[in-house]
Amino acid sequence: MAVNKKIAVSGVRPSGELHLGNYLGAIKQFVELQKKYKTFFFIADLHAITEPQDPKNLSKQTLDIATLYLACGLKAKETVLFVQSHVPAHVELGWMLNTITPLGELERMTQFKEKSERQGLLAGLLNYPVQMAADILLYQAEIVPVGEDQVQHLELARTLARKFNTRFGNTFKEPQALLRKEGARVMGLDDPSKKMSKSAPSANNYIGVFDDPENIRRKIKIAVTDSGKEIVYDPTKKPGISNLLVIMSQISDTSVKELEAKYKNKSYGEFKNDLAEALVQKLSPIQKKYRELSKNPKKILTILKRGAEDANKIASQTLLEAKRKMGFLI
Ligand code: AMP
Ligand code: TRP
Repeated sequence: MAVNKKIAVSGVRPSGELHLGNYLGAIKQFVELQKKYKTFFFIADLHAITEPQDPKNLSKQTLDIATLYLACGLKAKETVLFVQSHVPAHVELGWMLNTITPLGELERMTQFKEKSERQGLLAGLLNYPVQMAADILLYQAEIVPVGEDQVQHLELARTLARKFNTRFGNTFKEPQALLRKEGARVMGLDDPSKKMSKSAPSANNYIGVFDDPENIRRKIKIAVTDSGKEIVYDPTKKPGISNLLVIMSQISDTSVKELEAKYKNKSYGEFKNDLAEALVQKLSPIQKKYRELSKNPKKILTILKRGAEDANKIASQTLLEAKRKMGFLI
């Protein structure tokens, strides 16, 4: 890997079934980034436990997500793929950063307010963004590809980097969020006014990354469209068809403009047929690769352990520097 590549870091929580929103909003972008940047992608198991987890499932889910990422095209040679809890520096720096984080900043976080309403007031939920800041700052990341929902947390990472640097001397780079323009918010198929989500009341809301062709065709067929006949992008007046256009554009790497021209005199039905086939073509090879890789979990674990070693080399250096600056006996 070239030394002068910029550094990109991101984490994903190991949470159950992944859908098209996760694929287009996060995974696809990671795969594209690994060529251009030096990338560190980790499975955020320490963040996952801020919501109740069944201890019987956590390790399997962690391995499953890693397998899926590899199936989607992340390459062990090009990216450092690892499990957050395998690199202890994350928690150490997290603790140190907690000591300079004003409580008010954490209590203001939208995600904290929403989640604590459902789960009760747990210190882990409150401190979640501080841990996230540590995850990022340890690698001196310049860019952090995330969904819109994480932007507020990223602001805190920037604030903490500045604060630490001012108080103890220049140590951390200030990271920047990288948001996709299109695909950053894939909307629900049955209700295009809300984002696609696996916690939606109906499974017809989303295309699961593991949905079979029959299911994909069925869900696209019944996806909500709008009145009128034209296939044009207009999220206010035509939210249903606009969402499907964005999905098609992302899946086929064709611009929305080109798609509008291509489907100028075509029906919703024809467009939906093509979209379903494009999705089947995109997802089938990923599913096949996933099944292949799943046969050898030991190999995945080896990749993750090697990733943790590589991550640890960088993370422990930054941690040492931060400890030195804070005045610890080393
Ligand atoms: P989550 O499973 O909610 O933790 O999301 C994992 C990643 O997928 C995050 O980067 C989210 O921003 C992204 N994501 C989740 N849902 C969507 C969606 N409907 N559209 C675009 N990105 C999404
Ligand atoms: N909180 C992020 C999410 O829910 C996951 C995450 C944890 C993360 N640590 C991170 C993302 C560091 C980017 C950088 O999606």
